[in-house]
Amino acid sequence: METKIAAISPESLAEAKRIIMDGGVVGMPTETVYGLGGNAFDDSAVKKIFEVKGRPNDNPLIAHVHKDYDLLKIVDYDPPYAKLLRDAFLPGPLTLVYPSTGKVSPYVSCGLDTLAVRIPSHAGAQAFLREVDIPIVAPSANLSKHVSPTSAQHVYDDFQGKIPLILDGGISEGGIESTVCDVTGEIPVILRPGLVTREMIADVVGACGEYTPDPNGKEKVKSPGVLYKHYSPRCETALCQSVEEAARLCEKQTGKRVAILAEDGVIAAWKIGGVKLLNLGKDEREMANRLYGLLREAEGICDLLIAVEPEKKDGVMVGVLNRLRKACTSVDIRH
Ligand code: TXA
Ligand code: MG
Repeated sequence: METKIAAISPESLAEAKRIIMDGGVVGMPTETVYGLGGNAFDDSAVKKIFEVKGRPNDNPLIAHVHKDYDLLKIVDYDPPYAKLLRDAFLPGPLTLVYPSTGKVSPYVSCGLDTLAVRIPSHAGAQAFLREVDIPIVAPSANLSKHVSPTSAQHVYDDFQGKIPLILDGGISEGGIESTVCDVTGEIPVILRPGLVTREMIADVVGACGEYTPDPNGKEKVKSPGVLYKHYSPRCETALCQSVEEAARLCEKQTGKRVAILAEDGVIAAWKIGGVKLLNLGKDEREMANRLYGLLREAEGICDLLIAVEPEKKDGVMVGVLNRLRKACTSVDIRH
């Protein structure tokens, strides 16, 4: 199969719609990362997404709709605070998890009694969702366990020959996946941190919890995605807590191509020669925006990627650190 990358135009949107209505999958831009979209009502399209990605079949998908889509077609329980969240943050990088009504394919939620719904703000995503006018389930458009894609080229690199069309909407500005927030209880609970932070949600509705899976694994997992190994570049990776630690690890290496991934100030002051420097940027938004692109770049230029944890740990950095820590774990630096 030939895989085409097409700018968003009336023609490419019409082609994307044809593919979707025929049960196929399409690469689509969003403001967070690119998605691999299919018709949420079509069992075989949903199964195809799992197959093409190599995704474990107990990890549910998010349904994406345009901003004027009637949510009552797929959701019935809607607490007042969920409306406040939609008014404050949507369209945007926030996914809300509602009780399921069984309207979309049962394969979407993988046996959970909930449905995750997202209204992306990216103009190209909105145009595509409006064109099809049905919920589109879309996981991040990367092979399972690989780094999420923030450009059409990243999607192509993982799915060349496996999907017919990638809609090109430029570089994803947000850079990390949406915040996933459960709205089935008394207060919202964050299942996956992202660009809409816990503080931002609490500011709007007065309270916001944060889900941490039971370490003993006894309780049923609310969001299976949080358990999986994720986002890994195809090179060795290590995560250091300080520049000194990174420098020590770097000096121990012989015969390996090494790259350092760190925030702007650390990169500017780095002294050891012979290593590639990958600058995450100055502030939390920049670091979110650059993270995945740099992890993918590292694969091509080094054997060992040494990441230094940025100083800032709160706000959007909760999401950035969540991804960075999952991505950079192949080498245990204590040995
Ligand atoms: O920004 C995003 O959310 C991107 C773009 C493409 O929209 N999508 C994305 O999808 O990141 P994916 O499939 O890579 O991650 C979805 C996450 C997983 O951690 C999954 O477990 C969780 O959302 N999830 C999906 N449905 C859920 C549900 N019903 N209850 C709890 N968690 C759910
Ligand atoms: Mg993903």
